[in-house]
Amino acid sequence: MQVAAQKILYNFKQLQPRTSWSFRHIERKETNAHTHSYHRYPAKFIPQIVQQLIKKFAPTGKEIICDPFGGCGTTLVEAKISGRRSIGFDINPIAKLITETKVTPINPKLLEKCREEFMDNYKNSQKKTLPKCSRVNYWFDTATIKRLDRVYFSIKKIENKKARKFFFCAFSHILKNCSRWLMKSIKPTIDKDKKIPDVKEVFLRHLDSMIQKNKVFYCELVKSGNLNVPAVMYRRDSTKPLPIKKNSIDLVITSPPYVTSYEYADLHQLSLLWLGRDASQFKGWHKFTQEFNEFRKKFIGTSYKQSKDVNFNSYIAEEIINRLEIIDKPLAADVANYFSDMRRFFSEIYRIIKFGGKACVIIGNTTLKGVEIINAQVAAEQMLRLGFRKVNFIKREVLNKMITPWRDKNTGKFTSLSNPAKKRVYQFEYIIVMEK
Ligand SMILES: C[S@@+](CC[C@H](N)C(=O)[O-])C[C@H]1O[C@@H](n2cnc3c(N)ncnc32)[C@H](O)[C@@H]1O
Repeated sequence: MQVAAQKILYNFKQLQPRTSWSFRHIERKETNAHTHSYHRYPAKFIPQIVQQLIKKFAPTGKEIICDPFGGCGTTLVEAKISGRRSIGFDINPIAKLITETKVTPINPKLLEKCREEFMDNYKNSQKKTLPKCSRVNYWFDTATIKRLDRVYFSIKKIENKKARKFFFCAFSHILKNCSRWLMKSIKPTIDKDKKIPDVKEVFLRHLDSMIQKNKVFYCELVKSGNLNVPAVMYRRDSTKPLPIKKNSIDLVITSPPYVTSYEYADLHQLSLLWLGRDASQFKGWHKFTQEFNEFRKKFIGTSYKQSKDVNFNSYIAEEIINRLEIIDKPLAADVANYFSDMRRFFSEIYRIIKFGGKACVIIGNTTLKGVEIINAQVAAEQMLRLGFRKVNFIKREVLNKMITPWRDKNTGKFTSLSNPAKKRVYQFEYIIVMEK
């Protein structure tokens, strides 16, 4: 293997986990502070990582921060709290809805009025239904669909646009609880024994917790003078040119998707299915549900993508693919596609970052069919070959993941603690810090 690639492998081998980055003593209420608990989202950051990176690499407060895999907006929320302007991207329209809600503090008095408006709408609601859809009927029972429709149309009548979005975000969050979806599963799986809760009760409980969180967030931002600090989110494919001028971003903080780990489109299909049927409210969303198979191919790391011209520009990646090809050709093709997409992404962030600006990429390694998929080392090599300069590689212990940390040794699939063939995954992750 080429010397520079060997040096990267050697550097990573020498790394010891850094306790100052493990946040061992952080409690759930701290990771869920501010607006971070508005909506579940797989593989989200713990906000403390972002806070620490902002402090270290955006010291003046004037910096513009970008997260091109913005997810549910952790980076943008933390940027706003710290008074830095931020911009986020994600291919997933649900990510945009959640993030926009989370970075938009609403005057608490207005929100209370909108809650009353919602209750009036609910009391006086007429029978209204969204267009029928067989997949909605698959996931929800008929009585629940009626109750959800009643909540949905009571939200739709709220006049204030920001508040309406806030209520829709709460609605999107409860869809999983109210469906037949097996709650802990990251795959679309029916739970035959699930007791469906009372829709209105679940909705109001979650809404009220969001209202409380908004109040604290709003008051803190007023006090710090950061209420109007811009934080904008777009739905975009980050492997393609982003609508940002070259050399304009001071700091990128991001955590890319992993290969064949989460199918984000599948995971958010309940919200897409429900909201996507209302073209007047959620413009363009119907495309994602009607052409769902095409939509899910756009996510990096998906196994739905067909093989295409791959160019990952990494000796380390090449070795991984060669090893995998002997064992499982289709899987090798998925991983090759992943590394290829990641190279495109790194090339785009190289373009948008200022000279002297930093990129912090938080990424973990995994094993597929017995082959180690050392994403972090590949990412480091790809970035260096694009012209980035190494600042630091940090290894951190992962203590707080929403999902099961176990995979089955034989199938490579996520599994539970009780499976004797379980193997710990994502025990560590890396923060790759590079400078342009
Ligand atoms: C690990 S998650 C990021 C989570 C985020 N750090 C947070 O705290 O919420 C990766 C994200 O990448 C997004 N993604 C996948 N493929 C993408 C693409 N081609 N362009 C932009 N975003 C993409 C997924 O939708 C997902 O939200």
